[in-house]
Amino acid sequence: MNRFLSQVVGVELFTPKINDSLWYFKDVLGYYEVGKDKESVYLRAYNEFLYPFSIKLTEQEKSGIGEIYVRTMSEADLYDTVKTLEGNGVKGLWVEPDSKIGRSYAFETPSGHTVRLFWDFKEFVTPEELKSILKDRPMKIPNKGIGVVGFDHVAVSGVNQKENRLFWEKLGVKTHEMVVKGNMEIAAFMSLTGKAHDIVFFNDQIPGRLNHVAINIEHSSDIFKVTDMYRDYGIEIVSGPLRHGITQGIGIYGKEPGGNVIEVHGLQYYNYLPDWKPLVWDVDKDFWNPGAALYGYISEYLMKGSPEPGVKPLRPIELRARR
Ligand SMILES: [Fe+2]
Repeated sequence: MNRFLSQVVGVELFTPKINDSLWYFKDVLGYYEVGKDKESVYLRAYNEFLYPFSIKLTEQEKSGIGEIYVRTMSEADLYDTVKTLEGNGVKGLWVEPDSKIGRSYAFETPSGHTVRLFWDFKEFVTPEELKSILKDRPMKIPNKGIGVVGFDHVAVSGVNQKENRLFWEKLGVKTHEMVVKGNMEIAAFMSLTGKAHDIVFFNDQIPGRLNHVAINIEHSSDIFKVTDMYRDYGIEIVSGPLRHGITQGIGIYGKEPGGNVIEVHGLQYYNYLPDWKPLVWDVDKDFWNPGAALYGYISEYLMKGSPEPGVKPLRPIELRARR
């Protein structure tokens, strides 16, 4: 299958406590603040190439996920993908370039999440004082916080689980693993790049919610340092530290002060097989153990997501259309 999409570059997170969320990302995780506009603050981790940000924090009344930023493989692929989407009945809108992203197309997925598809972007230029000694390290390792290396994946929950999976597969995204309950699809672990997962969808009654955003560490042992720091700095631990069966990643899930769950993550497998058939786990037989957690503790609380259950998530595409 042809690939049209290059990678999930980052996400926008809504937070009702932007200053506290900034403290968490900058002082605990070690993100660099690299820009600000009226509503949002842009963050990037030290080992992310060229892209102007991977986390965009936007102040809103409730927590949750805003836009998901996906880059295409080429400029032509941007326009071809939009043609395919619109041919399949998707009604998105073109967004003129902003300070970070070039002309882009915002649309809502069947699960109720807003994706901004783009090709051009404003390349990040590292200030002289933050340049690493290495040519291939985009910025110096930060001198505070854990020093996470960059964005890994986003896990969201929404409606139309099967329709949504097929929608992404039509765009060339591979499903590596799935969770089912009998005939019902519960989760899909999907990959744009060959990593075990770039985007994960969980079945839910409500469209457009966030489960978690995962951020990579450099060394597996950093998981324990993060866990210790969470205890020292009062970050609520939602699950972990643990190793997953599905994807084989390791992680510790904490709730940032704005209410969104962040997974500090490492490892996972790579799978470049173009004709891969998804592995299927059945919750009634084999999901929780070892699928969800090969070892370590995972709580059902993790599945609550943000905003908290019962609160209607904001729809970023509607917010954008109203501007
Ligand atoms: Fe994850």
